Amino acid sequence: MKFSVSEITELVRDRRSISPENYTDRVVHREIVERVVQNGTWAPTHGMTQPWRFFVFTGAARRRLADMLGGEYRRSVPPEKFLPRKFEKLTQRPLKSSVVIAIAMVRDPNGKISETDELLAVGCAVQNMALTCAAYGLGAYWSTPGVATGEAMRRFLGLGDADRALGLFYMGYPADAWPKGYRKPLDQVMVWHDE
Ligand SMILES: Cc1cc2nc3c(=O)[nH]c(=O)nc-3n(C[C@H](O)[C@H](O)[C@H](O)COP(=O)(O)O)c2cc1C
Repeated sequence: MKFSVSEITELVRDRRSISPENYTDRVVHREIVERVVQNGTWAPTHGMTQPWRFFVFTGAARRRLADMLGGEYRRSVPPEKFLPRKFEKLTQRPLKSSVVIAIAMVRDPNGKISETDELLAVGCAVQNMALTCAAYGLGAYWSTPGVATGEAMRRFLGLGDADRALGLFYMGYPADAWPKGYRKPLDQVMVWHDE
């Protein structure tokens, strides 16, 4: 066996989405962020297009991101549908995280690889990131609200028309005990054909 399957199984199953409300203010150092993103880039990629892009917001830059999210929520929602709690969440989460990484997919100019495959590759990259965070004991949380995936976010990140903003990956050290997860049993999700 090349690696310990029991250890990787434990890591995969122990990975949890831990939201910024549950982070301490301990800083996640740059070397750790770089390792997390570097591992992201080792995801599979059809045609080696490597369509992922990672925009890291930390320190004072988190405020710029929070302002953009809040501003866009206010702009895009009619006053009667405006939810103060949602606004609060959108604008506070970046500030409660040591690091926020805006995830993006950049379309390869020759367009040979389908958009679906490019999006799937980015999803694989984010899973690598989440597993790396779990290995460090770091909380991570991928969130995809409309304001973080729409046109305004695309422009905020300087992406092109064919590119996609794919939400925010929050990172911070958890304040509480590591949460437990659950999944459906295999017989509910797997169909086995053998004849
Ligand atoms: C692509 C993607 C987008 C997600 N977006 C959100 C989101 O916008 N809001 C949210 O509460 N959770 C979001 N999540 C996290 C899920 O809620 C979480 O993965 C699920 O509850 C299972 O928990 P676990 O990750 O701890 O196993 C997202 C997960 C993925 C994979």
